[in-house]
Amino acid sequence: MISTDVDLAVERLRAGGLVAMPTETVYGLAADAGCAEALARVFAVKGRPTDHPLIVHLASADDLDAWAVDIPDAAATLAATCWPGPLTMLLDRAPTVLDAVTGGRPTIGVRVPSHPIATELLRRFGGGLAAPSANRFGKVSPTTAQHVLDDLSGHLDPDRDLILDGGPCEIGVESTIVDFTAAPPQVLRSGAITAEEIDRLLGLDTAAAAGPSRTSGMLVSHYAPECLVLPVDTAADAEHIAAERRDRGERIDVLDRTDDLVAAAKLLYADLRAADESGLDALVVVMPAAAGLGHAIRDRVTKAAAADPADPSRAG
Ligand code: TXA
Ligand code: MG
Repeated sequence: MISTDVDLAVERLRAGGLVAMPTETVYGLAADAGCAEALARVFAVKGRPTDHPLIVHLASADDLDAWAVDIPDAAATLAATCWPGPLTMLLDRAPTVLDAVTGGRPTIGVRVPSHPIATELLRRFGGGLAAPSANRFGKVSPTTAQHVLDDLSGHLDPDRDLILDGGPCEIGVESTIVDFTAAPPQVLRSGAITAEEIDRLLGLDTAAAAGPSRTSGMLVSHYAPECLVLPVDTAADAEHIAAERRDRGERIDVLDRTDDLVAAAKLLYADLRAADESGLDALVVVMPAAAGLGHAIRDRVTKAAAADPADPSRAG
């Protein structure tokens, strides 16, 4: 099911099939955003509740007017400076957008990804592609084509769907989500484009997410591996906890990539998956400082840690 054939991917999308598409952040499970039947399959394949809206991916900011209305100047500024790139904006939806995309909400999430294969796919397809991360709901996002296959092979249809291989994702954590329907705009999910950077670009102070959880990435538990994740602040704390647990007979590893946050983000989900593959009881993760890309890494690790593997009802 893994292929590098963009023409075949376009064909599959036009026929209502699903294509796992590489982006610079994580792999997305793409469907024609104008095809209700294909969108229904995205939710089924992911096991995702249908009231969790999907991000629509576009080839270029020029296509935005077909999907969103009343676009504030600040959003246009960010589109001009950050797209293509790891930024999703929530805007008022255009009336023609299907409810299946927005979960019936009055807003739509849109982004223009920068991965060259995503760009090529979007250009050739010629429309919007609704794509959540290509993992089962609440689990760790995929950053390679193999991760997608590991997660979804039992759910995708080899005759209708395709996994487009674009290599390992450069950034490794999901896009920053900025809600422009709130005033001031709110950063709902941290990512490689930081709140500090957005504030600087816009000359204003964005707010942190407030109010009821509006994105599933804001659920307390998300991005969860099977093994226990234990965040700690220092390498010394990590060794201490690891030694204590090993003495009790547990299989423990320490993950410390605090010396290189770009690599830490890029490899985080592969690291979490590797922890499961090696059958660890727990992975002790040394947290980076809460600055820059550190915010996004801390957010994902905290949510991975909030999952209780014994609780089948967890969002993860
Ligand atoms: O980097 C990314 O954003 C990746 C790649 C594939 O583009 N996509 C991604 O999609 O992470 P997903 O569905 O796993 O996470 C998108 C988040 C979800 O929490 C969803 O609820 C939220 O964005 N979202 C999308 N549209 C929304 C809307 N109209 N209102 C509120 N939240 C929205
Ligand atoms: Mg996701």
